[in-house]
Amino acid sequence: MHDFDTIRYKTYLRSTSLGRNIAVFPELESTNTWLKTAVSSGLSDGMICLADRQIKGRGQYQKHWVSEPCANLTWSYLLKPDTHDRLFLLALACIHAVATVIERNYDLGARIKWPNDLMVNGKKMAGVLAEAVFNGNHLERFIVGVGLNVNQRSFPDYVPEAASIAQFTGQYVDREYLLAEIVNETDLFLHAWMGKDTNLVQQINRRLIGYGKRVRVSVDGIAHDGDMLLLGVNNHGHLLVLDNTYTVHTYSYEQVRIDAHTI
Ligand code: BTN
Repeated sequence: MHDFDTIRYKTYLRSTSLGRNIAVFPELESTNTWLKTAVSSGLSDGMICLADRQIKGRGQYQKHWVSEPCANLTWSYLLKPDTHDRLFLLALACIHAVATVIERNYDLGARIKWPNDLMVNGKKMAGVLAEAVFNGNHLERFIVGVGLNVNQRSFPDYVPEAASIAQFTGQYVDREYLLAEIVNETDLFLHAWMGKDTNLVQQINRRLIGYGKRVRVSVDGIAHDGDMLLLGVNNHGHLLVLDNTYTVHTYSYEQVRIDAHTI
């Protein structure tokens, strides 16, 4: 395992803006925290912050994101969209890009578990933590942090769901090439998001675990009575489910989870 090589990463990069400006750190508290707290003047739209090791990597639901140093990829995008509409969809577009590359380059079936998990054969390979920074009503920055398990060969017992690409393929993965491929793909999906391309929503729904199935939904850890029919996400990236009284519920809240046992 070696330190991330920015020069080699750039040889694979095709995007003209996204990920061209990249701040790489051997060690950082958290790439999301760094982009959240850095002074605005030093930040450009589409820049990336990457750390080979995070001391306080943060996950969804106030959990820690633990990752073996130099084995995996932990990075965040700094985005400055013109609107704060459809931010859930924007975060989903980022995880969909990761899934697309994993499927295409490593021949692994990658699915999205709403809101922001990437699953392969029932195991979690990546997760996204999206955070918006507002100045009054104005969206100042939108940070999308991605933790992707790449070359780690074993995981602690307290994360039994976790798995890496290398565990499935048996091969060492080139992190610089992989990140560049992901950024190239993300660039396409960000343009689709900006252009309100309905194809993006369709592609995400095609990848969505439980799509069209009866699932058990829990809100703040409390299971909703009875199964619900998962209708997919709408063009805001919000989750739509139909309950057994034929009422559609729209969820835009990360504390809503789809119970995997029902899928
Ligand atoms: C999850 O819980 O599934 C989301 C995990 C997100 C982890 C990434 S690693 C890079 C970025 N920096 C952080 O502190 N968290 C995100």
